[in-house]
Amino acid sequence: MTAAKAREAGIPGDMAAIGIAGEGGPEALRPLRRPVPRPGPGEVLIRVAAAGVNRPDVMQRKGLYPPPPGASNLPGLEVSGTIVALGEGVTRWREGDEVCALLAGGGYAEYAVAPAGQCLPVPAGLTLEEAASLPETYFTVWSNLFERGQAVPGEWALVHGGTSGIGTTAIQLCRAFGVRIAVTCGSDEKCRVAREIGADATINYRTEDFVERARALTDGRGVDVVLDMVGGDYLPRNLAALAPDGRHVSIAIQRGNKAEIRIFDIMARRLTLTGSTLRARPAAFKAALAQSLEAKVWPQFAAGKLRPIIDSRFALDDAPEAHRRMEEGRHVGKILLIPGPTD
Ligand SMILES: NC(=O)c1ccc[n+]([C@@H]2O[C@H](COP(=O)([O-])OP(=O)(O)OC[C@H]3O[C@@H](n4cnc5c(N)ncnc54)[C@H](OP(=O)(O)O)[C@@H]3O)[C@@H](O)[C@H]2O)c1
Repeated sequence: MTAAKAREAGIPGDMAAIGIAGEGGPEALRPLRRPVPRPGPGEVLIRVAAAGVNRPDVMQRKGLYPPPPGASNLPGLEVSGTIVALGEGVTRWREGDEVCALLAGGGYAEYAVAPAGQCLPVPAGLTLEEAASLPETYFTVWSNLFERGQAVPGEWALVHGGTSGIGTTAIQLCRAFGVRIAVTCGSDEKCRVAREIGADATINYRTEDFVERARALTDGRGVDVVLDMVGGDYLPRNLAALAPDGRHVSIAIQRGNKAEIRIFDIMARRLTLTGSTLRARPAAFKAALAQSLEAKVWPQFAAGKLRPIIDSRFALDDAPEAHRRMEEGRHVGKILLIPGPTD
């Protein structure tokens, strides 16, 4: 897209965005102006309606989760909005299409470029803004709990962080696909909310032993799959909560990168330990995941089995406040940033 063509299409030369000024607290997030990015071959340019805030953005701000090579250094792993320009070779989308998209960075801005294969239509019944809350957690949970973790109907899953963006997505996906789900939360109130969202069982990890509860829920057998965002000393406890042939899927290490486990437990109960990080995976992998989500998961929104769970909305310039809210840990579900003037 040439500068003249962009001007013709009403796309400005530069845009408001949020950058990271040195590593640090929420105040490191600073409003700035950047040239509007140009879509390369196979990419689309999206005028952003909303951007999702995810814990990995907080990690990036702290300098603990650098963008992969080639990705924008602006934070923001997901947006929704309107496609305003197409890169060479894009056939699936047209200018004017409303989509949500998974990004490797660059979402905290008025415009963002996304690989065409990582865009999905706005699910039936959702607003354009609401759709921004979906990509990061739906790609992550679908890939890790259902594809890597092989959760199938009738099985039990244990998912930590039941009211997180990831947790609220896992609860709904498990309900929609017939998997029974127990979640851990840090308060009775969060447990109540997680049950309201659809968790079959909730465990207050501050007052209860999740291993004992997981065993009690399953007549002593243990759960079939654990989706773990805690790591550290949770690992041996997660393994103790697993049934024979159970699967353990690591997606974060909030309590540390090291754990001591009993190797013989893995052998005796034929456990599988796996995990992944989404951001650095190749575009082809993410595009295949998008296709799987569109075919199997998106129809569940129209069927009323899935809905966005949005905690709060902040103007783009208030990104530091949005991060403060996430780090206070009182949110349930997703936090959104809205570019442009707000009422
Ligand atoms: N691997 C990947 O591809 C990938 C992709 C996306 C996200 N993630 C990771 O997934 C996690 C959730 O992301 P998010 O955006 O949904 O973040 P979030 O909404 O901020 O949630 C963080 C959650 O961690 C829970 N938690 C912290 N310590 C805990 C403990 N000891 N026991 C049980 N739960 C605990 C918190 O529960 P309470 O508030 O109840 O204490 C909170 O619900 C993050 O760690 C993120 O880095 C990984």
